[in-house]
Amino acid sequence: MSDKLVIFDTTLRDGEQSPGASMTRDEKLRIARQLERLKVDVIEAGFAASSNGDFEAIKAIANVIKDSTVCSLSRANDRDITQAADALQGANRARIHTFIATSPVHMEKKLRMTPEQVLEQAKQSVRFARNRVADIEFSAEDAYRSEVDFLCRVIEAVINEGATTINVPDTVGYAIPELYGNFIKTLRERVPNSDKAIWSVHCHNDLGMAVANSLAGVKIGGARQIECTINGLGERAGNCSLEEVVMALRTRRDYFDLDVGIDTTQILSASRMVSQTTGFVVQPNKAIVGANAFAHASGIHQDGIMKARDTYEIMRAEDVGWSANKIIMGKLSGRNAFKQRLQELGVQMNSETDVNLAFAKFKELADRKSEIFDEDILAVVNEENIAQSHEHYGFVSLSQHSETGEQPQATVVMSMGGHEVTGTSNGNGPVDASLKAIEVHVRSGAEMVLYSVNAISGSTESQGEVTVRLQHSGRVVNGVGADPDIVVASVKAYLNALNKLHSQADRVAAQG
Ligand code: KIV
Ligand code: ZN
Repeated sequence: MSDKLVIFDTTLRDGEQSPGASMTRDEKLRIARQLERLKVDVIEAGFAASSNGDFEAIKAIANVIKDSTVCSLSRANDRDITQAADALQGANRARIHTFIATSPVHMEKKLRMTPEQVLEQAKQSVRFARNRVADIEFSAEDAYRSEVDFLCRVIEAVINEGATTINVPDTVGYAIPELYGNFIKTLRERVPNSDKAIWSVHCHNDLGMAVANSLAGVKIGGARQIECTINGLGERAGNCSLEEVVMALRTRRDYFDLDVGIDTTQILSASRMVSQTTGFVVQPNKAIVGANAFAHASGIHQDGIMKARDTYEIMRAEDVGWSANKIIMGKLSGRNAFKQRLQELGVQMNSETDVNLAFAKFKELADRKSEIFDEDILAVVNEENIAQSHEHYGFVSLSQHSETGEQPQATVVMSMGGHEVTGTSNGNGPVDASLKAIEVHVRSGAEMVLYSVNAISGSTESQGEVTVRLQHSGRVVNGVGADPDIVVASVKAYLNALNKLHSQADRVAAQG
């Protein structure tokens, strides 16, 4: 008999902990809405006590999400738990996720606490959280490197205090599938009240095995919740990737025999949205969501596919949101067709005014580019969302001149705190000159640690999508911008990154 597997998405919490992936409240809200369309069971919206920005983002998400449980992380102390509970007050279904480390190295060197103190604090925190919310997840941080006897005592105690989900993280990505699966199995067998909670896996990808470890935790260990992120975003090498683990469970249902409630046709939109918001580009050969994931280039494969799809295809591209015919629109397409395509792509606009603004941008693009791809439409909507969020810095116009043998010069007109300013500068190339022209007024002092350009749809007529990563006072932000003119795309990406630095001055680094 098949049973239900809970999909817990932590893109907005563990994913956001990836250096440079921090998101604004509005960006998080947009992604949360897409996660709800994807039908994830639990959305971990952030870490309420880590910053005012995160608190406000969780609160906003809790107030609008109706179908998924909304969760906040919190350390195992009363202050953090209170902040989490306050942020979640408006939620239809709320979960507090409290954690404390249980491995010898973390207890001794990081927490400087004895195992008995950790045990007491874990119990006390779950008891405290239970007074505010019924749905409590407890995580033993670095569980996989913890001593089994001690871990069993902690888990038994927190279940007695009312924890309803027990998460067993491989925090440092050290596990091997068979060993991790057996670790969960042993814990479930040895903890006397293990049947009173749902067991959860949370795997990091340092050795490239996060998905395999999570699946082993489910198959061998009997876990019934997987924690994962869109595109595998997360600390260091990332977390278990949602799209990979879900499609493995679906495609090999014959083996796993588990029910997963995800609407897989929303996967690609979610992937694009996360990548465009964070500036973390998806590699072309990434399973499920990479540009080449369903492309058959070799003659033998193409011949086979034309005769029968199942010769080389184990999944249908349409089932994860790739459209069968990718060239879909042009300058003659009307507003209704545009709106319908947005719906098919899983993009929800907040109002008819927003649809009109995005449609105007689409028309502008269609005048410059004969074929519009899904990727272009998603970039247009993303641009529009950025423009709508009334940022401190906004792009107005650019003129630049470059000629062989001469130093390029650029003039950028931009808005800055509501005023229009103009800056002019020379540079090594047109992009360099344009960004220096912005700095004439901004003087950010930020260091650029990454600049990358990607053709959204593959040809020279394509829009260029630029990612810029800036570092300042220990903070790292990514900015993205898209335009058929890559110098303009670069300026937009740079301003997007500056806006993030500007708005996140109050954020503190999240922990956990
Ligand atoms: O990796 C980890 O241990 C975590 C916990 C806070 C769940 O992210
Ligand atoms: Zn983690």
